[in-house]
Amino acid sequence: MKARILVTGGTGYIGSHTVVELIQAGYEPIIVDSLENSYLQVLDGIEKITGIRPEFHKVNLRIKKETEDFFNTIGNIDGVIHFAAFKAVGESVSHPLSYYENNLNSLIYLIQEMVQRGIKNIVFSSSCTVYAQPDQLPVSEQAEIRKPYSPYGNTKKISEEIIEDAVNTYPLNAISLRYFNPIGAHPSACIGELPQGIPNNLMPYITQTAKGIRKKITVFGNDYPTPDGTCVRDYIHVVDLAKAHVIAIERLVSQKNATKYEVFNLGTGRGYTVLEVIHAFERQTGIKLNYEIGPRRSGDVAAIYADTSFATNVLGWVAERDIDNMVITSWRWEENIRNIYGSLFN
Ligand code: UFG
Repeated sequence: MKARILVTGGTGYIGSHTVVELIQAGYEPIIVDSLENSYLQVLDGIEKITGIRPEFHKVNLRIKKETEDFFNTIGNIDGVIHFAAFKAVGESVSHPLSYYENNLNSLIYLIQEMVQRGIKNIVFSSSCTVYAQPDQLPVSEQAEIRKPYSPYGNTKKISEEIIEDAVNTYPLNAISLRYFNPIGAHPSACIGELPQGIPNNLMPYITQTAKGIRKKITVFGNDYPTPDGTCVRDYIHVVDLAKAHVIAIERLVSQKNATKYEVFNLGTGRGYTVLEVIHAFERQTGIKLNYEIGPRRSGDVAAIYADTSFATNVLGWVAERDIDNMVITSWRWEENIRNIYGSLFN
């Protein structure tokens, strides 16, 4: 029998790629999503890639009753991968309470249902933001956890604490995966990131500028203590990230976890500056990008990249896709978005 894995936020960017990898690894994913920040058409993309249309339920997990009602109908579940959350850093500064309300309540209601129904395994979508600016690079899981610079980031830190406390008390096992900077898209260009409005993140800003939707990219600061003065990040291909989730849930379902709560960094271990990403994109696509240097963006750390040795040694996982693959798949996806979503994005 195929293991049934509940994927919250499964029509989102990382969620949808993980659903594809789960199906291809022989799992039966069941998606719940509120569709507040994603689209039902994502299921078409998943079906096109895998030949399977996963079960989908429109559920808002931050509403306790909806969560309870959903779990009453769902039957046996072997594990949960929890992506569903608000994720825009800037928006979280303007609306901190809705970020805490959404991201924390949904986690709590989800865990309550899991405990009540004897569902023992959860993989949580966390972020390198819990390290803020670490003292040492590359940053390992042993580094001190610091207050993140945004309410969004803080919801990740608090969520990890909630999970750790819950695991200590209840018959639960959990893995938190701390992502660095996910970019790229599925090589089929059938699924990818779908930012609403003006993108906050670098990669969709680059692809939209190349497409002519944005006039120019502003590089936020070139006076950081980095090789070319622009910020350094550890960009990781979303397909590599998705594969790590399959390994993590497999580890829990087959009870191979060493402790009840484990944490892994997911990055490539290599940092790139903003200008290096822009130039990689230009090289791979032959498109000259219009960019200018602007002031620093508040809340940005100068540099962060992962020590990924724990994930490699323990999970046997390694990021395989390089920056060229990341930028080219992002671009193919951007070129295809309007074929799939048409007027939604005009
Ligand atoms: N950048 C620009 N111009 C832009 C957009 C971004 O120069 O238009 C720069 C940023 O200053 C930063 C780099 O590109 O140096 C990457 O920025 P992103 O916004 O793409 O990503 P962040 O590193 O800011 O954010 C990521 C995740 C968040 C997480 C945060 C924690 O997207 O979820 O790391 O550090 F909270």
